[in-house]
Amino acid sequence: MHSTHKRILVTAALPYANGVIHLGHLAGCYLPADIYVRYQRLRRQEVLFICGSDEHGVAITISAEKERTTPRDIIDRFHALNKEAFERFGMSFDNYSRTSLPVHHETSREFFLDLLEKGFLVTKEEDQFYDPESKMFLPDRYVEGTCPNCSYDKARGDQCDNCGKYYNQLELKQPKSLISGKSPTVRKTKHWYFRLGAFQDRLEAYIAERSPEWKENVLQQTRSWLREGLQDRAVTRDLTWGIPVPVDGAEGKVIYVWLEAVLGYISSTKEWAQRTGQPERWKEYWKDPATRYIAFLGKDNIVFHTIVFPAELMAAGGYILPDNVPANEFYNLEGQKFSKSRGHTIDLIDVLKRYPADYFRYTIAANLPENKDADFYWKEFQARTNNELADIFGNFVNRTVTFAAKNFGNAVPPAGALDDRDRAMLETVRTAPAAVGGLIDQFRFKDAALETMNVARAANKYFNDSEPWKTLKTDRERCGTTLNICLNVVRSLALLFAPVTPFTSERIWRILNMPRPLSDEWWDDAGISALPAGHVLGAAEILFTKIEDAVIEQELAKLAPPAPETAAAAASYAPLKPVIAYDDFAKVDLRTATIIAAEPVPKSKKLLRLQVDLGFEQRQIVAGIAEKTAPEQLVGKSIIIVANLAPAKLMGVESNGMLLATAADGENFALLTTSATVQTGIGIK
Ligand code: MF3
Ligand code: ZN
Repeated sequence: MHSTHKRILVTAALPYANGVIHLGHLAGCYLPADIYVRYQRLRRQEVLFICGSDEHGVAITISAEKERTTPRDIIDRFHALNKEAFERFGMSFDNYSRTSLPVHHETSREFFLDLLEKGFLVTKEEDQFYDPESKMFLPDRYVEGTCPNCSYDKARGDQCDNCGKYYNQLELKQPKSLISGKSPTVRKTKHWYFRLGAFQDRLEAYIAERSPEWKENVLQQTRSWLREGLQDRAVTRDLTWGIPVPVDGAEGKVIYVWLEAVLGYISSTKEWAQRTGQPERWKEYWKDPATRYIAFLGKDNIVFHTIVFPAELMAAGGYILPDNVPANEFYNLEGQKFSKSRGHTIDLIDVLKRYPADYFRYTIAANLPENKDADFYWKEFQARTNNELADIFGNFVNRTVTFAAKNFGNAVPPAGALDDRDRAMLETVRTAPAAVGGLIDQFRFKDAALETMNVARAANKYFNDSEPWKTLKTDRERCGTTLNICLNVVRSLALLFAPVTPFTSERIWRILNMPRPLSDEWWDDAGISALPAGHVLGAAEILFTKIEDAVIEQELAKLAPPAPETAAAAASYAPLKPVIAYDDFAKVDLRTATIIAAEPVPKSKKLLRLQVDLGFEQRQIVAGIAEKTAPEQLVGKSIIIVANLAPAKLMGVESNGMLLATAADGENFALLTTSATVQTGIGIK
């Protein structure tokens, strides 16, 4: 599969600058991309690696509102943090840009106007959720509700995080404004729609042509979109943060983040071209069909890169399209999703100060979520570091160089006649570049990492079986031959491991005292014995330090949920009431009931008037929950009421009973409900 393309463009999804990236992102997209690029560079391919921060979108405005600061403050902070985290992790981007830069705004405006002129953008007046209280439309993440596809109840306005479905906002069930917490009204607003449907045939042809090389998970999502039939999609939003729609009469509207974020790859390439003094060179990467384009991204970004972005590029014309989109599945932490708010996460910058990046790079590479979800486990991190990196790879390198230092004047001894074992070792190394490289070319990074470790394993065994510590005394030439081969294999391993553990490879390069930089080497030369006899080595170093159990226990303890028994938390619980006898409790007649109507009590902020069905009768209950829930959300719910409470009048409205709910606000507010299949009106003990 060695491509005949002239050059390779590699992009990695632009992370939102409203949070720090974590190991899940690295496994889903960035590490595979970096392995691929480092390998291609060693193959002397002309390759450009592009990324940057995605700095628009509702997620960022919401973060800013939550923190009572500006979007600019948020993006500046997280752009810097993510850039640093990527650097520490060894991401070798040629350019890491930001979508708030003028070059990106300019590029996006040009695309928008070009698409408009070519008739691919049309305006429509359509209904949109509107929050009357805050007097604003509620794009995307400003609304939350129940997914129309899978019924997940925290689905966002444009996409469900649970099933991955993208839908039109109005399809969301039980929508709730994230600003006021109330259910929104619906209002007409004008937006520009991208005529995605016009590209159905061309996209199908494009996918059919490229798909033989694509991963199954990527094809599945893509085909399911195509099967449903592509719809026009609104590509503007009523927001102030973003790239203003460059058309008269579009005040207060910005370009939808997904339409412009993907163009960030192009702007980042332009920035690179300007920075390196060849401003026109970005075109080689985006407009020359001799360029192979690989887009790396996570599972939740697939269709935007296999359908929406290609359609944009087709609409503009003259651009190349992604040749492959090798997206991974999700990568979790110890069996659960990464969650910063629940403390179930790992602070990347912090952890990379405590452990070398290569320990993580290898651990993740060896268990990438390529075909199914995978997890980071601290115990696996320890085991891979101790048993593979240290005991196999590190041990082989260390015993070889220290043996040479002690017994051969720290220089490469000459090789004499080869025996079968020597030949087998050399053959393993000779075939390794093609074997490992072939896997990387097929985006099988996990197999590539494991295969590379297998070469180290074979080398370690070769050292053992050859017993140079014995032949040193009995047959010095034989011993020299063994060491000559081992030192050459150390060099080969440095090259073979360079895509996965680049920092370690650089260290080996110094230990071997190699005259020219590793980056000037050629991948295929990892297969040959290139160290001449007499070459003087550098100073030996221990490559990997084993990780103690106690250290891993500490890391695991950090993931444990914080203890709730802080003084502040305890104070938020009401004290327990005095003990009662069963008879006291039995006086309360609790019943299931179904809400059949709900409306606000006029002039009251707190009260709702409910009609409830008890099966054998209907009655009216007034409840003080108007600030906690919207009336529309109540109808149909099966609740629990106190059926024998003495009637009372609240603000002049009669109430016959009381519904049960938690005595709390916000997230802790909940109505006590039963399953709708339980008969209404029956008693509760
Ligand atoms: N910011 C998006 C996310 O984190 C990814 C965008 S990829 C892009 O999910 F390149 F299109 F921007
Ligand atoms: Zn869903």
